[in-house]
Amino acid sequence: MPRVSELFFKTAIVFLILGIGAGLQMAISGDHGAFPAHAHINLLGWVTSAIFGGYYGLNPAKAERRIAMIHYGLYTVGLVIMLPALYWMLAAGHPEIEPVVAIGSLIVAAAVLTFAFIVFSSAETVRSATVAPAQ
Ligand code: HEM
Repeated sequence: MPRVSELFFKTAIVFLILGIGAGLQMAISGDHGAFPAHAHINLLGWVTSAIFGGYYGLNPAKAERRIAMIHYGLYTVGLVIMLPALYWMLAAGHPEIEPVVAIGSLIVAAAVLTFAFIVFSSAETVRSATVAPAQ
């Protein structure tokens, strides 16, 4: 499995554990106020990361390009900023943290556009955009 797939799956399982933890916390406490954070941890953190990992597993030529690792880094940093802030905002009632959620969301959106570029580019285009030509 390509390294970027491995990283996406490792990140995904961490978010699934956190997402389930948030779900159990809501179910046990009976307070479902943070359900949008739970849903985003599971869907952006677990499901989407695992789909990215699966895509690179099926496209090893694209997985080897530097831009794939840039995609992983951007997406993961975006989630690490956005999701805890979203949870904190909803579960603990801190609306003032919303700008942090917004910054994380924009980084996540940029990562998704990077992935769109990778998907629509041929492996060779991605290579020439990210790897210096051999002398
Ligand atoms: C042990 C695992 C889980 C528990 C205990 C759990 C618990 C919950 C609870 C209590 C709610 C709030 C329901 C409401 O107030 O309407 C909820 C909502 C939600 N959960 Fe989970 N969940 C779990 C796993 C997952 C997973 C794995 C996903 C996605 C991959 C997921 C996606 C969602 C979504 C999208 C919502 C919002 C649904 C709505 O808008 O009504 N959950 N969950």
